[in-house]
Amino acid sequence: MRKSNVILLALLVGILRLEATIATVFDFNYGEALDKSLLFFEAQRSGKLPPTQRVTWRADSGLKDGFSQGVDLVGGYYDAGDHVKFGLPMAFSVTMLAWGAIEFSKEIREYNQMGNALWAIRWGTDYFIKAHPQPNVLWGQVGDGASDHYCWERAEDMTTPRNGYKLDANNHGSDLAGETAAALAASAIAFKPYNSSYSNLLLVHAKQLFSFADNFRGLYDDSIPSAKQFYTSSGYSDELLWAAAWLYEATNDVYYLKYAVDNAVYLGGAGWAVKEFSWDNKYAGVQILISKILLEGKGGAFTNTLMQYQAKADYFACACLQKNDGYNVYKTTGGLLYVREWNNMQYVSSAAFLLAVYSEYLSAANAKLTCPEGLIQPQELLNFAKSQADYILGNNPKSISYLVGYGPNYPTHVRHRGASITSIHILHSVVECVQGFEAWYYNPQGNPNVIYGALVGGPNQNDDFSDDRSNYEETEPTLSGNAPLIGLFA
Ligand SMILES: *[C@@H]1O[C@H](CO)[C@@H](O)[C@H](O)[C@H]1NC(C)=O
Repeated sequence: MRKSNVILLALLVGILRLEATIATVFDFNYGEALDKSLLFFEAQRSGKLPPTQRVTWRADSGLKDGFSQGVDLVGGYYDAGDHVKFGLPMAFSVTMLAWGAIEFSKEIREYNQMGNALWAIRWGTDYFIKAHPQPNVLWGQVGDGASDHYCWERAEDMTTPRNGYKLDANNHGSDLAGETAAALAASAIAFKPYNSSYSNLLLVHAKQLFSFADNFRGLYDDSIPSAKQFYTSSGYSDELLWAAAWLYEATNDVYYLKYAVDNAVYLGGAGWAVKEFSWDNKYAGVQILISKILLEGKGGAFTNTLMQYQAKADYFACACLQKNDGYNVYKTTGGLLYVREWNNMQYVSSAAFLLAVYSEYLSAANAKLTCPEGLIQPQELLNFAKSQADYILGNNPKSISYLVGYGPNYPTHVRHRGASITSIHILHSVVECVQGFEAWYYNPQGNPNVIYGALVGGPNQNDDFSDDRSNYEETEPTLSGNAPLIGLFA
């Protein structure tokens, strides 16, 4: 090779390298992602839709939920691509929405999304209030997974049984009642600056539900067996602490903090070191929320126990950051946290949100994260949260956005009954239960409705993804996966 050619080649390689660097610098529009994530909650609305409804392919549905049992359970959210109103993930989702609205209220307002965020919370809390007609009664589910999943129909055409299932003094459910208390307490904080009477109302329900959860201990899926196959609870101790922590945040009443301290060992708050934060397992959330009290210098006589909570909060954060002396959350080669095959993205969005929140708490206190592999600046937690958000939005080996309707390339065969069938406003005739499978579910074409802002289950452990409606592990969106995104994108 002549010398001039060598120089030319070196130059060319240099240019290519530069281009590769430029190509991996993504500039995502988080405001747009935030707006779209909130739209997903409108697509999931059950009940009578308001005139302000922006997802216009949807219409009223479930207008008699609860009536056959003498209770009004109209409203709330459908869980995922189906039409069951599952109480536990719905309540967790509202808690996440509210936490996002509390922690990142300034940013959400700057994006002009506070109205939409409060609506998303309120669609849940209005329903929880209806579902809680007496101090020790909580309706925890409407519809039944088995019969619902037997059909592929629009919510507006629903023909399936809409039985309600309740908890009461004879049918305990501390996990569900505790999570609902947490959701209402967090929402009371989120609403306080905007509507103090509504905030007070939410708090009344939250306190009653916490007492109900605490005094009548048990697993909700023993009382509501039809939830077991879909949302089995691994325990209720975390939800009791979680509810207490949120009630302390909402009331400043030391009774609730003392509860979390006195029960730190018995209920596992200071003992459990976990690598997952989800609708089922709230330990990491409690540990980080309680760390805030310590970081604000308000630990007082409780400081020692709160430090035990924080040690476990650190374990979770370090495990996500891969700095936990080998006890880390698995990360794909593409850089995504990977916890489980079925809807892995829900664990990604919740973990990323939690790290963003923890980063705020630490930096407000001028503190660092202590990991077995060194001290970490709060900014590093935020960078990590950003890496997960960017993976979701398209910075991944498939160059696809797992947030539907964002960017040029996103899943078009989302496993969602309503999105996969032409809107009732266009196709007026009823699509019957089994007919929907032949006509729509197996239809090779993309969905007629783009379900904007839905976070699908996402790729497998090899960063691979197949955009197919039958691939329920990867193409179905859920409330609990979407809810942490509001705070994360903000
Ligand atoms: C506040 O909440 C109440 C329900 O408790 C509602 O009737 C009222 O319209 C709300 N006020 C505002 C300003 O949104």
